[in-house]
Amino acid sequence: MSSAAPPDEGFWLFGYGSLIWNPSVPHVERLPARLPGFSRRFWQGSHDHRGLPHAPGRVVTLIEDADSVCTGMAFRVPAHAAVDVLHALDHREKNGYSRQRHGLVADSGEHLDALVYIAEPGNFAWLGPAPVEEVARQIATSVGPSGSNRDYLQQLAQALRNLGTHDEHVFELEAMLQQFVER
Ligand code: SIN
Repeated sequence: MSSAAPPDEGFWLFGYGSLIWNPSVPHVERLPARLPGFSRRFWQGSHDHRGLPHAPGRVVTLIEDADSVCTGMAFRVPAHAAVDVLHALDHREKNGYSRQRHGLVADSGEHLDALVYIAEPGNFAWLGPAPVEEVARQIATSVGPSGSNRDYLQQLAQALRNLGTHDEHVFELEAMLQQFVER
């Protein structure tokens, strides 16, 4: 990891959560890509998008894990949009995420240096691990200004299927959520 100062030219952005299916940023290219050394986990609280301050939802962050590889989507943001995009992303990811810079491997084999928004353990909105049933129940019942937490999980699972990737943590939660919905 190195610090991620605002670039004065275009940059690559790696999305591994809502940024995969809803980047909402102008980009001139997008490539399925992998970030080695990280696992995606629903361990970050969402008080501003998929939950509320008194009833936070759960969204994904990345956890360092040497044996793991996280699949997502890389977007190339052009230079003319870079500053505005960073402001917009900093606002969108303000609930505990910080910018980092990591090396990706695109499916094409290309190596990319990318910005990644990661919520580190111990940040003010951190929830951390919990039993899968508890996490699924929290997701099933949380709603915020950006919509239901259930929608976030289902959209993420579908986006990962579209990428042809299997994420055990996400798919287990999706299956568990389905049980709550059917009850
Ligand atoms: C991301 O998608 O890359 C960050 C987490 C999120 O906004 O869902």
